Amino acid sequence: MFKVIVSGGCGYIGSHTIVDLINNGFEVISVDSYVRSTATVMDNIEAVIGKKIKNYPVDLCDADSLRAVFSEHDDIKGIIHFAALKSVPESIKEPLLYYKNNIQGLCNILQLMTEFSVPNFIFSSSCSVYGNTKELPVLETTPMGIAECPYAATKQMGERIIEDYISANPDRKAVILRYFNPGGAHPSGLLGEMPGKGITNLIPVLMESVIGTRESLTVHGGDYPTRDGTCIRDYIHIMDLADAHTRSLNYLLQGKNENNCELFNLGIGEGVSVLEAIKATEKASGRKVPYVIGPRRAGDVVAIYADNFRAAERLNWKPQYSIDDIMESAWKWELYRTGAAK
Ligand SMILES: NC(=O)c1ccc[n+]([C@@H]2O[C@H](COP(=O)([O-])OP(=O)(O)OC[C@H]3O[C@@H](n4cnc5c(N)ncnc54)[C@H](O)[C@@H]3O)[C@@H](O)[C@H]2O)c1
Repeated sequence: MFKVIVSGGCGYIGSHTIVDLINNGFEVISVDSYVRSTATVMDNIEAVIGKKIKNYPVDLCDADSLRAVFSEHDDIKGIIHFAALKSVPESIKEPLLYYKNNIQGLCNILQLMTEFSVPNFIFSSSCSVYGNTKELPVLETTPMGIAECPYAATKQMGERIIEDYISANPDRKAVILRYFNPGGAHPSGLLGEMPGKGITNLIPVLMESVIGTRESLTVHGGDYPTRDGTCIRDYIHIMDLADAHTRSLNYLLQGKNENNCELFNLGIGEGVSVLEAIKATEKASGRKVPYVIGPRRAGDVVAIYADNFRAAERLNWKPQYSIDDIMESAWKWELYRTGAAK
């Protein structure tokens, strides 16, 4: 059984990936300070897999405490590094918090990768590194754009730090995953995304509007040059995303990588507009979404969707879920999370 450290294991993507890793026979050690999550996530994971996973509540910026976690375990085969702060508006208001947390946390964990001879590293990056690109679909070779916020800048810097680290340490390997727009929940409805401080992602906001904890949804701009005037994004189901992490880890463990540091886009390769996402939510919930069309929001990219051919070819990854599946599972989770399902 291969042992893996998952940083940010109590977060949205980390928790679903833990479920997938356990289902694929990995042993998981989670490190999450709960700065943007709670210990109850581990209970939700247990409800899904029927097994308790230990989380170490350690801040990655505290190198000594993190070292103590690594020293409790031998033969760690990989690190999947999710832990980061991810709110775009918060990063604009508090840039130093983002640079310190996301960059120092990354440098510390890479340092421990060296000290404890961990061979493989997987990094959560984001399509925000492409900035306001005009090239569609976006390929891995599409140049990075100007980072629209400090959060996106931490992802661009993070990628560069990993590339430099791997060139200086040729016995280590890394996969950088650029996620498009993750959404949805575990099909059981027992695990999903917690609405967090400063989070403006469309799907949690849509769910809150339908369940009634938010008065209505504001669509930022209805006059874009798109098929219905609203922005277009590439929504990827959280279970497809989790699966891509397990595949990336196996890809490195089995030595199938072509280079020591590789980059993959993770999106389904199709764009969905905000109005189409609203329709899919109405279909899944059987309720009307209360929304108003407001003005455009500064910094929003008009349309972005991935070319995912490289991940399909090298990782043998094929997304299984559609936008309807994303909304159905997100709605099931919303009912469970809020107690409305009872
Ligand atoms: N969800 C998205 O839309 C999205 C899109 C692209 C990239 N990403 C990236 O994917 C990763 C995971 O995102 P998520 O949606 O699961 O976010 P999340 O906020 O749900 O999870 C992140 C977890 O990391 C923990 N954490 C943060 N800083 C930490 C630190 N210094 N020490 C220990 N724990 C720390 C938080 O408590 C949280 O549980 C992040 O790196 C994020 O930037 C997310």
